[in-house]
Amino acid sequence: MVEILPSILAADFARLGEEIAKVERAGASMLHVDVMDGHFVPNISLGFPVIESIRKITRLKLDVHLMISDPDRYAHEFIRAGADHVLVHQEVCPNLDRTLRSIRGDGALAGVVLNPATPISTLSEVLDLVDHVLIMSVNPGYGGQSFIPNALKKIKALAWKRKELGLNFAIEIDGGVALDNVGDIVRAGCDWLVAGSSVFHTPDPGAAFSQMQRTAREATLVKV
Ligand code: DX5
Ligand code: ZN
Repeated sequence: MVEILPSILAADFARLGEEIAKVERAGASMLHVDVMDGHFVPNISLGFPVIESIRKITRLKLDVHLMISDPDRYAHEFIRAGADHVLVHQEVCPNLDRTLRSIRGDGALAGVVLNPATPISTLSEVLDLVDHVLIMSVNPGYGGQSFIPNALKKIKALAWKRKELGLNFAIEIDGGVALDNVGDIVRAGCDWLVAGSSVFHTPDPGAAFSQMQRTAREATLVKV
């Protein structure tokens, strides 16, 4: 089932619990959590204490996107803090096979992220070890950026590859997702759509989430 994952990077951090409750009540099943270290990306966001606190107040699956230079060093600790899914960037994992096996070994879903400039061919040897592949549709580091359309080509190619290999990992997209491109993204073959500003920078995040989820699911009905 196609899912919209609200990204808390765009939420009001002073009212984080209430913001999360709005999308949980509206029917979200997963929450996207961006961790930035000011080194791999030019921004700093949040870390373990925030994830531990969120874990206590929601039943949503926590989809933790590590935009950090040394994910191998910290992945285990993020799972301990409450992450259900751990996403690492291909660009900083020289031992990606080991990293993915280790995340799965700790009981979390293992995801890999590709920056806009990183080709999907870099994952050809590990596709059977991933639970989800996240295609960045902006350069990571900030919310509110414009969608890079080349991401649609990468999603189509990856969906084709998945079918060819008979695998069933989820395909995820992150960055610039909004009501006007949800249909194209889903028709390209994407399953999980991360949405920050287009959910939380609205007067009613619950309603914005619901409208996007409805639009995304309607698009699956016309998928060829
Ligand atoms: C960007 C983050 C995204 C961000 C998306 O580096 O990985 O998850 O929250 O924000 P929007 O949806 O506003 O582009
Ligand atoms: Zn993200």
